[in-house]
Parts: sequence; C-alpha cells; structure tokens
Amino acid sequence: MKLSIIFGTRPEIIKLSPIVRYCQKHDIDFNIIHSNQHYSYEMDQVFFDELELPEPDYNLNIGSGTHGFQTGRMLEKIENKLLNIKPDIVIVQGDTNTVLAGALAASKLQIDVAHIEAGLRSYDRTMPEEINRVLADHLSDFLFPPTETSKGNLLKEGISEDIIHVVGNTIVETTLQNIKIGLKTSTILDTLNLEKNGYFLMTMHRVENVDSYDQLTKFVYSLKSISQTYDCEIVFPMHPRTMKQFIAFGLKDEVYKINNLKIIDSVGYLDFLVLEQNAKLLITDSGGIQEEACILKVPCITIRDNTERPETVDISSNIVAGMETKNIISAIGKMLTVERDWNHPYGGGTTAKDILSILAE
Ligand code: UD1
Ligand code: UDP
Repeated sequence: MKLSIIFGTRPEIIKLSPIVRYCQKHDIDFNIIHSNQHYSYEMDQVFFDELELPEPDYNLNIGSGTHGFQTGRMLEKIENKLLNIKPDIVIVQGDTNTVLAGALAASKLQIDVAHIEAGLRSYDRTMPEEINRVLADHLSDFLFPPTETSKGNLLKEGISEDIIHVVGNTIVETTLQNIKIGLKTSTILDTLNLEKNGYFLMTMHRVENVDSYDQLTKFVYSLKSISQTYDCEIVFPMHPRTMKQFIAFGLKDEVYKINNLKIIDSVGYLDFLVLEQNAKLLITDSGGIQEEACILKVPCITIRDNTERPETVDISSNIVAGMETKNIISAIGKMLTVERDWNHPYGGGTTAKDILSILAE
C-alpha cells in the first residue's frame, strides 16, 4: 500500500501527526504533500519540530489568497504530484481548502480518497469549511467519522454505510501524548506570569467573526465586558488572520488597551496545550480547541452560532454562546461552576492504528 498524506494548515499537521508516526513505525510506504496553506513559523514549522515529524516530501508553496485562487493552484499542483507518485490512497483530514483540493485532485485521477474527521456538519453553508467538508465527504472512498453522530450525518446524505468507519478522533492520541511532554518542558506559564487556574484562554479566527467590522467591533466590546465582569486575566494567542483584521479595521490600539487582556502571537502546540490544561475556561471559535477542551476536561465556550461538534454540547463540556456580549457573559458564569465530570466522545486513542489497519485490509 502506497499512501500520500496531504495537509496544509496547523490543525491538519497536528491531527495527522499520529498517522505519520504510525506509518513510520510500521514501515508503511507513505509520502507527505504539504500545500503550505500555512507557512509562518508559528503556524507551520513549529509543529514539525515539536511533533518530530519528517519534512514533507513535496512542498507546494501555495500560501494565502482568495478561495478560488488558493484551491485552484493547489488542485493543479497536487494533480501534478499525484500523477508522478501514483499512490493507492490519498489521505486528507478535516475541512480546509487543502482538503478539498486534495480530495478533488485524487478522485478525478481515480485514486481512492480517505477522509479523516468525516461527517461533521454545522449545516451553515456561509462557512467555507462546511462547503469543503460536504464536498470532501462525497468525493471519498473511505470515510472516517469520529462519532456515531457524524456517521449519522453521512448516512442522511445517502453515503453508503459500507465505506463508513467510526474510529474516534486522532486528536485524542495527539493531545494525551503531548500534554505529558508539554507539562514537563513548557515554561509558558512562567514566561507569561500566569497562575494555574487563574486565567481564561481565548482564540478566534473564523471568517464570520473576524472578517466583519461589525462583528469585530462587537467582540472588542465583549472583551471589555468580560474583563470588567470577571476581573480575570484573559490570554489571547492571536491567529495571524485575526491580527491582520484588527489592523485593517483600525481596532488594534483599542484591543491592546483592554485591561486584563494579554495578547500574544500564536504559540507552539506544547505551550498551547499547557495553557489549555491550566485555564479556568476556554473561549474560542476553533473546531479543534472545542475537542481538546473536552478531552482535557476544561470548560469551553464557543463564540459562534453553531457547532459541528454537538457531542461536546450534549455532554455539557461546551456551550455555544454566539457573539452577543450578554450571552457570552452568561455562558462564562455557567461554565465557571460546571462539574468537570464528562467523558469525551472521541474514542480510546487508537484512531491512527484503526484507520491504517482498515486501509491495509
Ligand atoms: C484556515 C482554514 C480554516 C482553519 C484554519 C486553521 C480554509 C478555508 N480555512 O483558515 O478552516 O480553521 O486554517 O488555523 O481552509 N496567514 C499568515 N500566516 C500563515 C497563514 C495565514 O500570516 O501561515 C494569514 C494571511 O494573512 C492569510 C490569513 O492568515 O491571508 C488567512 O489564512 P488562510 O489559510 O487563508 O485561512 P485561515 O483563516 O488560516
Ligand atoms: N493551537 C496551537 N497554538 C495556538 C492556537 C492553537 O498550537 O496558539 C492548536 C490547538 O491546540 C489545536 C489547533 O491548533 O490543536 C487548532 O487550530 P485552529 O484553531 O487554528 O483550527 P481549527 O481547529 O478551528 O480548524
């Protein structure tokens, strides 16, 4: 079996790392095609270093751009590589433009596509990720949803049960392995002068939140309000897209002035896990962080109108609060007193092994 593993962004590198490791350990013939959708050190190379991943066999150097430009360039370059490599199976993970381009290029070349983290649905087509997920699922020959809920979404869309395998999520093994390393090696709490369980951790990067002046202005107001209501430090490692938008909308000075708010650049995975593990709670619009919070038993507030991870809401580890200030404030109040007694729904930490065994068969 010859595999091509295609990825391009921070969460894909993190979540595919157990697959790469398993292939290395078991002498599976694989190669890595990196679209380089993410390319800044703190969005890309830091994860190769920390997770001890091999350098990609092929780097397509795509970078940023509009959806059509970015996806189109990827499609052309991935096709070109696949024609030379001739893999049996292409593996993609998640819902980025890299996933769509990888799945589309492979399926048109009659190469089998395996989609990891299949079947997630927000049912909100204004999200670019929702379009990518739906299309990637319908192009795939092996679908690996993390839960029965995500499998149900695929069945509802008429996808054959024969090609669906519920396997949990690779984020479990990645999180549990790396939090141990992070707790031993990371100095982030000292560097930022933070006390354990003494701060809120925040991230935000979704297009619907940061690309609109009105939403971002409202968010600055929410941050002030959280800071005043709870008098608690808020640590905010900022995604480059978000920083770019704060600058473009002339809001950067205002957000940097907010009391109790510590804005820093995005950090590496080990530091981020340690920040998560020791936070009072997480406030985020990220997909992967809703899952990690659930696994690490840290309460999460999702600042979006919907989530494609409803399992976390069902077990009360997560509240979908939207972007209205009063709803965020009230959700924080609730989550500060929540019992951290849930069990995460993402499987037993053998997802990479299970996926590769199914593909080998
Ligand atoms: C992408 C994914 C999103 C995922 C996120 C993970 C799509 C449509 N979106 O969003 O699903 O949740 O990655 O973080 O695929 N930038 C840098 N350095 C980088 C990368 C980006 O400065 O290494 C800046 C650029 O200004 C760029 C902007 O961030 O224009 C957005 O990058 P892009 O990859 O287009 O989308 P993300 O918001 O990162
Ligand atoms: N992450 C990180 N450093 C940060 C912020 C996030 O390493 O400063 C990790 C986080 O632990 C998670 C992943 O990045 O595994 C989530 O990526 P992101 O929120 O960008 O994308 P999404 O999951 O929403 O697609």
